[in-house]
Amino acid sequence: MASFRLITLSLVLIEVVVHRYTLSADALSMDYYAMACPFAEIIVRNAVNRALRNDPTFSAGLLRMHFHDCFIQGCDGSVLIDSTKDNVAEKDSPANLSLRGYEIIDQAKQQIEAQCPGVVSCADILAMAARDAVLWAGGPIYDIPKGRKDGRRSRIEDTINLPPPFFNSSNLIRMFGQRGFTAQEMVVLSGAHTLGAARCGSFKNRLSKFDATHDVDPSLDPGFARMLTRTCSAGDTAEAPFDWTRNSFDTAYFNALQMGGGVLISDQTLFTSPQTRGLVVAYAMNEARFFFDFSQAMVKMGFLDVKEGDAGEVRRDCRRVN
Ligand code: HEM
Ligand SMILES: *[C@@H]1O[C@H](CO)[C@@H](O)[C@H](O)[C@H]1NC(C)=O
Ligand SMILES: *[C@@H]1O[C@H](CO)[C@@H](O)[C@H](O)[C@H]1NC(C)=O
Repeated sequence: MASFRLITLSLVLIEVVVHRYTLSADALSMDYYAMACPFAEIIVRNAVNRALRNDPTFSAGLLRMHFHDCFIQGCDGSVLIDSTKDNVAEKDSPANLSLRGYEIIDQAKQQIEAQCPGVVSCADILAMAARDAVLWAGGPIYDIPKGRKDGRRSRIEDTINLPPPFFNSSNLIRMFGQRGFTAQEMVVLSGAHTLGAARCGSFKNRLSKFDATHDVDPSLDPGFARMLTRTCSAGDTAEAPFDWTRNSFDTAYFNALQMGGGVLISDQTLFTSPQTRGLVVAYAMNEARFFFDFSQAMVKMGFLDVKEGDAGEVRRDCRRVN
């Protein structure tokens, strides 16, 4: 039953996506590598599946990394670049927090380079890996356009363009709006928090035990607040999963928000705020709608400030500009 629904959904989706995007962005296309590197998608999918079989928590890592890549300097692989002695890169910002999964991208890149050197960009590999991670975790299947070029800039100071965990829904609507996203797209993209966890450093100011200046955040369910407080007595790097199925891409995140179980301020605000509450309720009730809207919003996110042609390069090593 689930697979039947998935197939119907993906057929509809492919039609919508192809129609909406291949016309507007002619440099990117679904079959960009069909001639020059026909096995690129399969190599990425195998690398992701192998890694996730070993450690399913990397599904969250890959999805988050693609988001950070796109929101800073566009989807250009800049998040993958290592710092050098002359340049502190994005990944060494405090906002990198727990970004993870770099090795998976490196493995896919090495295998692809062995078959078709200098053809497939790191930005595309990351976009495909994030997509494959969502599917592996039980989320929607969708096709993404390819043809992004890799950027040459990665600077710690650019990471101010990421939304901080204490943003309320108006702040989030404004910040995502500046990137061309609607409030609905912001909410559905936040649904990515159906995977993974946050570290106490990102939310412990909501708990009175760790912030004597205020009472426990009133939007938190008291029982849930006690649980978070226990978790965080282990220190700032202790992790709290966003929902009770941290490796499954499902509606549990939106259900948790309805019960006062959002981990970050930026999560709980989506239900607390009348501007976005209806969307949370709708996605909590309707997985097919969540999956469909999420896929569309991810394809759109994958177009953020993409570099085409000479504006970028195809990096040989994802950690270094050529
Ligand atoms: C709406 C604004 C957003 C804010 C304020 C936000 C903030 C955060 C924070 C603070 C963490 C925890 C980091 C840590 O403590 O280690 C996190 C984790 C995560 N974020 Fe977001 N995020 C947002 C949107 C997104 C979007 C759009 C995506 C992807 C499409 C995403 C994907 C993830 C994932 C998958 C994790 C878990 C990572 C892991 O477990 O390794 N987030 N986010
Ligand atoms: C994140 O940044 C810190 C410095 O703020 C650095 O020590 C750490 O290695 C970085 N993490 C990753 C995964 O790059
Ligand atoms: C959100 O936060 C801003 C300050 O960053 C504040 O001015 C605004 O009133 C807040 N909005 C809501 C709905 O609480």
